Amino acid sequence: MSADTAELTAAGLDLGIEGAVATVTLRRPERRNAMTPSMWHGLAAIGASLPDDVRVVVLRGRGPSFCAGIDLRMFSAEGVPGEERNRSASDPGFKDSIAGFQSGYTWLRNPAFVSIAAVQGHAIGAGFQLALSCDLRVLADDAKLCMKEPALGLVPDLTGTKPLVDIVGLPRAIELCLTARTVDAREASQLRLAELVVPLGELDGAVADLVAALLSTDAAAARATKALLAAAPGNTLEQQAAAERAAQAALLRARQAR
Ligand code: ACO
Repeated sequence: MSADTAELTAAGLDLGIEGAVATVTLRRPERRNAMTPSMWHGLAAIGASLPDDVRVVVLRGRGPSFCAGIDLRMFSAEGVPGEERNRSASDPGFKDSIAGFQSGYTWLRNPAFVSIAAVQGHAIGAGFQLALSCDLRVLADDAKLCMKEPALGLVPDLTGTKPLVDIVGLPRAIELCLTARTVDAREASQLRLAELVVPLGELDGAVADLVAALLSTDAAAARATKALLAAAPGNTLEQQAAAERAAQAALLRARQAR
């Protein structure tokens, strides 16, 4: 799919770009922004087409819920009108089809920008994984997070398991996923699943303040620093120190060349 406006609209997505800030809105509030393959492909298309000068991506959901996860009609015999059908796990293309869905999530880690999930109401399953794919999460105080997949006989497969373990640690990730229980905003803050929790009416303002603060630093330094930080967990101290030296040299050389 391209990031063509009509195609995105049909997929339940809005994309607004103002200067260095892109805002992606899940826009299917009547279904609590339940997700479909076309929405995942649309998200991937947005990620592939963002202008180079975008520095912050805000991801939000219209209506009372951020996102209620996969459209459960995908599991019914009728499916969702206009959407591709779920492939059988014995179909040779099964894993490739999941890889296509995952590409709707992975682009949010791009060091070119900082991604922020603005979460009100429910973020369930595929929707929780979407929030986890963002670099930062700002939660309204009515937020409810739930990794529902194991309760439905599934594993979370939309790239959410790694950030969940990275953020809350393995024991808590096991407990949250294998009980499929709901975490409220207060607990999410304690578990570091939220950088900030604000009253629902202040969500937009809090996100705007965070965006402004992120835009106040140097663009090239911010991009290089995000890349460094993202690599840190997989590096030894020596490797990371070498990566810092290389990043500094590349950053300053690029500035001198301008
Ligand atoms: N798929 C399809 N339709 C949905 C979904 C969904 N995931 N979630 C909500 N809807 C629809 C409801 O069927 C309802 O439609 P209707 O008005 O035609 O009856 C409408 O959205 C509003 O939903 P309500 O349940 O009335 O809204 P409420 O605010 O009371 O509850 C909640 C919201 C908690 C999100 C509830 O809808 C819910 O539990 N949804 C299912 C969540 C789920 O199990 N998702 C799958 C997770 S696993 C994964 O994502 C891989």
